[in-house]
Amino acid sequence: MDDLETLRAELTEAVEAAPDLAALDEVRVAALGKKGRVTALMKSLGGMDPEQRKAFGQEMNRVKDAVARTIEQRRATLEAAALEDRLQHERIDVTLSARPEGTGSIHPISQTWDEVVAIFGQMGFAVAEGPDIEDDFHNFTALNFPPDHPAREMHDTFFLPERPDGSRHVLRTHTSPVQIRTMLSQKPPIRVLAPGRTYRSDSDMTHTPMFHQVEGLVIDQATHMGHLKGCLQEFVEAYFEVDDVPMRFRPSFFPFTEPSAEVDIGCSRKDGDLRIGAGDDWLEILGCGMVHPNVLRACGLDPAEYQGFAFGVGLERIAMLKYGIPDLRTFFESDLRWLRHYGFGALDVPTLHGGLGR
Ligand code: DAH
Repeated sequence: MDDLETLRAELTEAVEAAPDLAALDEVRVAALGKKGRVTALMKSLGGMDPEQRKAFGQEMNRVKDAVARTIEQRRATLEAAALEDRLQHERIDVTLSARPEGTGSIHPISQTWDEVVAIFGQMGFAVAEGPDIEDDFHNFTALNFPPDHPAREMHDTFFLPERPDGSRHVLRTHTSPVQIRTMLSQKPPIRVLAPGRTYRSDSDMTHTPMFHQVEGLVIDQATHMGHLKGCLQEFVEAYFEVDDVPMRFRPSFFPFTEPSAEVDIGCSRKDGDLRIGAGDDWLEILGCGMVHPNVLRACGLDPAEYQGFAFGVGLERIAMLKYGIPDLRTFFESDLRWLRHYGFGALDVPTLHGGLGR
């Protein structure tokens, strides 16, 4: 029993003397680890007669608990000291001016957002906004998603808790609800662009739970697919800063457009490098179509009088294509090295006359 007391005293001393968390962990392993001194003594219990084992075992447990407690106390002290040390040394003075310029940068998503707005702004589109938390009507029903239709599931929707009236709001799964809000609050002719955050419960190499889209909507009395095509052609060439980008429209399905199409642009790949423009390959970049008569009706517009087109583009996707960013998830990691590498100068505001990106 005296041995045990000596062991407890020795270990306590070692714990108290550990100068930092790494040293403390070494002491812990040497005492309580698989090959530690306390563990070795525990193993020796097997060779004792039952009476002796009982007394010794109880005492042993007491020592073991005491040592474990001392280690935890020491750990708390060392962690508090480490935190205090960081707080002392990692101070920043938020009142300092932002100079010298160049230390901060514009995130590629903000840059791409501004570029797209500059291009469509030039074509006469106004920016429209809607809330991130939407109701079922704007996110689905008015966009001609039938009730309980699997298309609603397609969107991996984040639902908010049920409200007292039984309704459930959602984090908007796309920027298309801004079409509805615009048509309900404005009279045609309408020409709006709605960039914003969107949310889907999906996370892997090519999906993040929050991402960005830009929605476009044009409503007038004689708008047709030729206008849609011309508008997108103009956008693609201005955005990628390439003349004569081949485009193809593939038939597709969206509940809110009829006909619907997915748009591919021409590209080529050489030695792993992607080049936008005439080439032997295609890249999908957006979805679009003519606004469905049911959507117009839901917004109080007569489809016999008004028609129009809509499109939706993923901001991350076109940013990755233009700026050669290989991994979607890095957009949201806030890694300073990444931000410095892919970021843009705060004073280089994108304009069509001044140049868009680098
Ligand atoms: N809302 C669609 C989505 O998130 C994208 C989209 C497709 C928007 C076609 C449109 C459109 O306005 O016409 O998948």
